[in-house]
Amino acid sequence: MKRYFNLLIVSFLMTLSCFSQEYFKKEKLIETGVYYYPEAWDSSQWDRDFQNIAKMGFEFTHFAEFAWAMLEPAEGQYDFKWLDKSVELAAKHGLKVIMCTPTATPPVWLTKKYPDVLVVKENGQSAMHGTREHYSWSSKKYRELTEKIVTEMAKRYGNDKRIWGWQIDNEPSHYGTVDYGPEVLLNFREWLQKKYGSIQALNIAWGTAFWSGVYSDFGQIGIPNQSLQICGTASPHSILDFKRFSADECASYISFQYKILKSIIQKSQFVNTNFMSSHEAVDPWRNADLDFVSYTMYPVAGYAKGVGNQGFRLGNPGQISFANDMFRSIKGKTGVMELQPGQVNWGKYNPQPYPGAIRAWLWNSYAGDLSFICSYRYRQPLFGGEQYHYGMVGTDGVTPSPGGLEYSRFISEIKVLRKHYNSSAIAPAEYAVRKTAILYNKDNQWNTDGQKQTYQWSYDDHLSKYYNVLISQTIPIDFISEERDFSKYKVLLLPAYQLVDDPLILKITKYVNDGGNLILTVRTGQKDRNGKLFENKWAEKIWPLIGAKIKMYDVLPDDIYAEIMMNDLKYSWNNWADILEGDSNTEVWASYNDQFYKGAAAVTHRKLGKGSVTYIGADSDDGDLEKDVLTRLYNSIGITTKPLPEGVVKVWRSGFWIAINYSSQAVKIEIPADAIIIIGENSTLQPAEVLVWKD
Ligand code: GAL
Repeated sequence: MKRYFNLLIVSFLMTLSCFSQEYFKKEKLIETGVYYYPEAWDSSQWDRDFQNIAKMGFEFTHFAEFAWAMLEPAEGQYDFKWLDKSVELAAKHGLKVIMCTPTATPPVWLTKKYPDVLVVKENGQSAMHGTREHYSWSSKKYRELTEKIVTEMAKRYGNDKRIWGWQIDNEPSHYGTVDYGPEVLLNFREWLQKKYGSIQALNIAWGTAFWSGVYSDFGQIGIPNQSLQICGTASPHSILDFKRFSADECASYISFQYKILKSIIQKSQFVNTNFMSSHEAVDPWRNADLDFVSYTMYPVAGYAKGVGNQGFRLGNPGQISFANDMFRSIKGKTGVMELQPGQVNWGKYNPQPYPGAIRAWLWNSYAGDLSFICSYRYRQPLFGGEQYHYGMVGTDGVTPSPGGLEYSRFISEIKVLRKHYNSSAIAPAEYAVRKTAILYNKDNQWNTDGQKQTYQWSYDDHLSKYYNVLISQTIPIDFISEERDFSKYKVLLLPAYQLVDDPLILKITKYVNDGGNLILTVRTGQKDRNGKLFENKWAEKIWPLIGAKIKMYDVLPDDIYAEIMMNDLKYSWNNWADILEGDSNTEVWASYNDQFYKGAAAVTHRKLGKGSVTYIGADSDDGDLEKDVLTRLYNSIGITTKPLPEGVVKVWRSGFWIAINYSSQAVKIEIPADAIIIIGENSTLQPAEVLVWKD
């Protein structure tokens, strides 16, 4: 009986804890909020501002991420009164709060008293006070001081029902700077010692026989610093390890804060951090210990070409969807912690977004199964480094900006959508069966980008090209990591998966034998996990799997395009070509049509067990070859794809179809005759227009 009773208690507690993990209510669909910096505005304006934030429809606000100097004006002296007041006024207007730990911006007393906490740049100089993310993830002192401020905040707000959840730090990264500080070096050596056990093992893994690089002691190892190297790189393997180590240090600093918060705060409060949606130096997947990982997003800042002559104001069609799928895949839920409010100040050039584009981004975020959207920021700053950055209201602090109006419109539209929500809606079978997984491991980015072999190579571009081709066919996507179960996906894509080992090859081979359809792309299977080439024929490890030999690869200058033929159609490639020779049972789907290897296979396909393997050996600029090969593959395995007009994103979520037009032209999309349109007019979408319907 006692045992039974204990079991009951355990199951009750488990139910409770499952419940407490439900940070977001499904029937709310998505909640929208906005950053507010009380410390930057006269306190007499706070009440008015929160009232206006609530009037605009926002459901939560976000505090304190850069406020360490105000929260702890002198070491060990805390001042929470202003933050208490802000939480109280926000609550008065019905706004929940995401509280942020302020560690991105240490106060000047801290960096003056403990200068060793600062990042050391490649020239040996320490970073100076005055910006952000200039502290070292490896500094013990910084962790000690972090622990104090985070503990104080957690004690003060961790059991406060008005606090919805927590954000740790802000955009963890050094924004492209590498930290060469002394504690980094010590930690790196320790990390290596743990990984390799002996210096002999490290010498082998790093190939130190090359250029007399042999070490006899871990204490001799330095941080690879290209600015101090005279000619070339002796050990790309050491660089790969240093990148892994740095990403681990970042993740461990975030996890350190996570553990402190979790040991104090109530279970109902979530804890996450917000990574930049694509940033080479850090790896959000390393923080899968958090409740979830969110991202920040600025589609229009002079970098995106988009589609058509207004594309620069609309953003690239796949950018938000990509971040949605990548970040949601880490923990099954996510949100966008910063979404662009309008014109920004830091881009290559900072154009006005296209009228309606911000609403389109909001809908795109909703479509990606996000639980919340937070806009950076409510008020346009009057001073400081982001003066030209728009907010939800303009410089007078009260007049909604064009983006602010679009946010309000979106929020009221979501309220309409909530009324139509059916919790038992399931994705249409024809759509669900297309669900494709992309296997993701940051090592492949670090290693292929570190040894490009052509200045045209970019892992990001390669990955995004495939991603965009897939979504242009209305194919839903998950990203997965190697330890996950592959079997629930009919199609699995490994883009430029350069680093492999036997267990992975066995796992993907089993996936295929059991009925999976595997797509491998250029550069896959060439190296081991240390980034060393295998001691057999070029990429031979994957030959039995792909049913073809990879004889060599080729690259071209950027003004020369070479040809590929598939089904009598001509395609051009320019970036990369693996030159293949199919085995007798392997189908050659496409061949090179010029250069000295004219006639060699460019794309191969073979059946294996109950599944198939397709190797796409060329990397094009326009993605046309990739698109047609993928369509051919899906059709050959009985999956129908739905091509969309260029620039259109179409996603199903929670019973609703959402279509967004990112192109500069009006487009007509297909919807069933009996579709119930909930948001929008009809199936012709002007640029930036959105249609939401049920069928
Ligand atoms: C983000 C950053 C914010 C703000 C914003 C401006 O990258 O996290 O704090 O600076 O850019 O667009």
